[in-house]
Amino acid sequence: MNIHKAAIPVMLASLLAFAAPAIGEDLDGASLYAQRTCIACHGPDAKTPILPEYPKLAGQNPAYMLQQMLDIKSGARSNGNTPAMRGVMHLVTEDEMKVLADWISSLD
Ligand code: HEC
Repeated sequence: MNIHKAAIPVMLASLLAFAAPAIGEDLDGASLYAQRTCIACHGPDAKTPILPEYPKLAGQNPAYMLQQMLDIKSGARSNGNTPAMRGVMHLVTEDEMKVLADWISSLD
């Protein structure tokens, strides 16, 4: 069986998403990052992505990250890597994206 390498993180994320609590529940950035599967692709410290073509996020500007997440979710941002990320964006609300962006930007 020939599984394309880009499919592996998507499968990992789907497995994690299975255990995710209800959307809309009030969670802090670190909990959201772990429970909404971000950790599977972007790494525990948000700067060791599981594939080299995936972005490092730690310390990035929160306003930029929020905009990218919205654009990825809406489809306004679309390239060869976008489908992997878009596949999990139904797990996060815009409010949760803001909490995530603030928390990730605070990392070194
Ligand atoms: C299945 C893998 C995967 C998961 C899970 C994932 N991402 Fe991503 N993420 C990516 C990829 C790949 C990109 C680059 C997409 C592109 O180039 O359009 C990306 C892009 C981003 C960007 C834009 C980075 C930039 O420099 O422009 C942010 C911010 C981000 N992800 C945050 C998150 C957050 C927060 C979560 C959890 C809700 C998450 N990601 C879950 C794979 C993933």
